[in-house]
Amino acid sequence: MSAHVDLSDEELNSLTNSILIRYGIDFTCYEPKSLKRRIVRLLNNLELDSVHALWLRFLKDQQFVYTFMTEISVGMTSMFRDPVFWKSMQRILISEYSNKSSLKIWHAGCSTGEEVFSMGILLQESHLLEKAKATATDFNQAAIGIATAGVYHKIKMIENENNYQQFNPKGNFAQYYSKEASDCQMNLDLIKHAKLEYNNLITDPAPFPFLFDVIFCRNVMIYFDSKAKENLLQKFYKALKPGGLFVIGFFDTMGHLIDSNQFDLVDEHAKIFRKK
Ligand SMILES: C[S@@+](CC[C@H](N)C(=O)[O-])C[C@H]1O[C@@H](n2cnc3c(N)ncnc32)[C@H](O)[C@@H]1O
Repeated sequence: MSAHVDLSDEELNSLTNSILIRYGIDFTCYEPKSLKRRIVRLLNNLELDSVHALWLRFLKDQQFVYTFMTEISVGMTSMFRDPVFWKSMQRILISEYSNKSSLKIWHAGCSTGEEVFSMGILLQESHLLEKAKATATDFNQAAIGIATAGVYHKIKMIENENNYQQFNPKGNFAQYYSKEASDCQMNLDLIKHAKLEYNNLITDPAPFPFLFDVIFCRNVMIYFDSKAKENLLQKFYKALKPGGLFVIGFFDTMGHLIDSNQFDLVDEHAKIFRKK
C-alpha cells in the first residue's frame, strides 16, 4: 500500500453511507478532506490497498467498527491544552460562581479525559469542585474507558505537567497523580463530580434533563461540515442556561457560524462565548 493512495469522493461516500446503514454511525457529515486523510492513514497502518479491502474487514470482524472509530476520531489531547484558555476560564469561574450554589458542566467530545481532569484540578484550586457536577461524553467507548481509568503514560505526563506549570506556575502537579512503572494514575477524586458516558453529538439528542452553566466542545467540530456545525451549535444553545459559557478549541475555525444574536464573545483569544 503506497502512502500516495488517493480516495475518490465516490469511494468515501460509499464507505460512509455503508457504515451509516450497517451501524447507524454517521460519518457522512464529516469534513471530507480530513476524513480522507485519516482513512488513508488507517489503510496504510493496516497494509490494506483499497476501500474495498477495508470494507471486507468490516464484514469479517464484528468489532472492527470500534477500531475504525478510534482511528478516525481520537485526536490529540492533553491536560491544560492551551494554558491561556484555562487561565481565562478560571478567572471567569471564580468571579461568577464563587457565590453560587451549583455549577453544571458538559464536556462534549471529552476523548480520553485530559480535559475533564484539567477542569477537576482547576475547580479544586478555585474552591469550586464541591459544587460542580459534570457530564463528559464521547462516541468513542475506548476513549471513555481510558478517561474513567485515569491512567496515562509517563511520556504524555511530561506534556501535561508543562501545560499545567504555565496555567499555575506556583502549583505542584505531582500531587494529582501517583507513578506506576511506565504509567501515571491520576487521582480519581478529581473527576468524581463527572459522569462519563457515550453520546454521539451528531445523532443523539443531548440526554440531560437540565441546563448547563458551561459547555466545552473543544477541537471536536473541526471534523464536521458547516451544516453539522450549525445543527450542533443550536443543540448547545438550547442546552445552556442564559448567561452560560460555551467554549470551542483554538483550532475550531467556526467563530463566524456563532450567531451574535445568540452568543456574546467573552474572550476572543480563549474562544469563550456567553449565551445571551
Ligand atoms: C481531538 S479530541 C478533543 C478532546 C478534547 N475536547 C480536547 O480539546 O483536548 C476530539 C474528540 O471528539 C470526539 N468525537 C468526534 N466525533 C464525535 C461525535 N460525532 N460524537 C461524539 N464525539 C465525537 C472524538 O471521539 C474525540 O475523542
